[in-house]
Amino acid sequence: MSGSVEMGRIPVLDDLGDVSGKRVLVRTDFNVPLDNGEIADDFRIRAALPTISWLTDRGASVVCASHLGRPKGKPEPKYSMAPVRERLAELAPGVDLMENLRFHPGEEGNDPAFVANLVDGVDAYVDDAFGAAHRSHASIVGPPKTLPSAMGLLLQKEVDVLLGMRNNPKHPFVAVLGGSKISDKLGVVEALLGIVDSLVIGGAMCFTFFMAQGKPVGASLCEPDQVETCKRLLASGKAIHLPDDITGVDANGAYATFGTRLPDGAKGFDIGPGSAAAFSDIIMDARTVFWNGPMGMFEDDRFASGTRTVAQAMADTKAFTVVGGGDSAAALAQFRLDDEVDHVSTGGGASLELLELGDLPGLQALRGAPNAAQ
Ligand code: 3PG
Repeated sequence: MSGSVEMGRIPVLDDLGDVSGKRVLVRTDFNVPLDNGEIADDFRIRAALPTISWLTDRGASVVCASHLGRPKGKPEPKYSMAPVRERLAELAPGVDLMENLRFHPGEEGNDPAFVANLVDGVDAYVDDAFGAAHRSHASIVGPPKTLPSAMGLLLQKEVDVLLGMRNNPKHPFVAVLGGSKISDKLGVVEALLGIVDSLVIGGAMCFTFFMAQGKPVGASLCEPDQVETCKRLLASGKAIHLPDDITGVDANGAYATFGTRLPDGAKGFDIGPGSAAAFSDIIMDARTVFWNGPMGMFEDDRFASGTRTVAQAMADTKAFTVVGGGDSAAALAQFRLDDEVDHVSTGGGASLELLELGDLPGLQALRGAPNAAQ
């Protein structure tokens, strides 16, 4: 793996030199899903272990720091790091974990005094928090200003895979996007249209595209203020595949299947079987596939089959397959297919922003570290 990406070299762990006896601050993304105070999925904790052991095997003492949830600059017991600390102690005994960085307003405010506190008594900094690398927060952009710094193994892999796919994909390159809002993904949709051979749209965001085609969407979720944008995207001449059947409920709340014109009061909750089969074919014929966002409300078994079919195609295709964090990663895990794709990103927003812009504030900060030019 290389330590170079666009716009300059990012230092890697070897660039820290001898870490034996040194105290190393590792910014991790331990923003894990919690269920009644219990960790529902420890994927992000396990993902940081290679970097932690790389450092401890070489005699460094490691202190990890992360945010958890969005506590808005003050302590909130439900976002305490205690459950994460307990799990980390099982997986990596002897490694310290600070309390939730976002309990302090200086984290999101990128306050130099808060950075000074973080780096006090620390000899080096490692950023392994890919999921938060799109945030210009104190713990992400502050420490590299003064400390020898490096990207951890997780951050390095994410950058190599996602930038490799963005800058040098094998064609046909297909992006499959779902989720509820086109407005959340507009930037990445526009960027992807410039590099993919086709864009496949599922999830509730398809209803805004249907509206742009002048079709009735019943009472389905959609964003009328994005209709003009969708019209422009559809007129771009790029291959955009929309569903041609939908499952959902009729005006009486009964399960129903529709074409692409939904009657009054009907709500679409999933792509239909015909669309799922068509999307699956496109994935099977591709050589690179990026998937972000479920095809429907997969948490409800009646509306899981579109997402399940896409997930199965991701597992079965010979293409290089990348899944961008968040809900699509949760869906893959629900269908027990997470080991069947080439890369599941630990970042949701970060993976989209890296694909859109080709760079992130966390990467820029590392390029400016005192040891970056080695
Ligand atoms: C995530 O879960 O995507 C990251 O941890 C970033 O969290 P944030 O969106 O609250 O900054």
